[in-house]
Amino acid sequence: MKIAVATGNKNKLREIREIIGECGNEIISVESLLGERIEVEETGDTFAENAMQKAQAAQNALYKRNIYDYAVFADDSGLCVDALNGMPGVISARYFSDGKANCTDEQNRAKLLKRMEGISQREAYFVSCFVALMGDFCVTAEGITKGRILTEECGSSGFAYDCLFYSFDLSKCFGEATAEEKNTVSHRARALKKLKEKLSNQNCSTNQ
Ligand code: IMP
Repeated sequence: MKIAVATGNKNKLREIREIIGECGNEIISVESLLGERIEVEETGDTFAENAMQKAQAAQNALYKRNIYDYAVFADDSGLCVDALNGMPGVISARYFSDGKANCTDEQNRAKLLKRMEGISQREAYFVSCFVALMGDFCVTAEGITKGRILTEECGSSGFAYDCLFYSFDLSKCFGEATAEEKNTVSHRARALKKLKEKLSNQNCSTNQ
């Protein structure tokens, strides 16, 4: 299968390659195929809506260049903290600016730590919602992974909130986990596993 992934996030692309790179799939970013980045405003209230916006924008851009032979994969993901009513959620990447502008991972982590000061209920989960578009057909799948927010950063693996997330599955912080360990339990791995199963069952719904 030839897969074009609609993400500008190199860490995500790496993880997706690690998770489904086997079996002779060709996996390339939409950005590399087009030679330019497509900016998509994420205006949805849910991960599923945002993933669909990214996938459709990428597919339209590929079609404009007469590129029709790739399945387009897009995901939207984020961290949901129970004590913060599911925040940062869909604005995880732009949490520091309340979703208004791009921010650094360091700024987002600092804000989360500040918000969590004095809070003992620290359960949280990562969500990943994937969309695969193949022409008019669309398949979606969601994965989650549960843990809790640490009171200080731990480890230097992974990216973004990883060094603040203690994984219940791994009994260690994602920031201390190897890529292989994270990929056995991550939200993205779980979503992709479901997506692969759905695709191999050809359980597609029409994308209207
Ligand atoms: P997206 O690229 O719009 O889906 O934003 C995802 C954001 O959620 C990232 O920029 C991170 O802030 C956060 N996030 C999603 N997955 C992970 C992960 O596996 N580790 C750490 N942070 C993540």
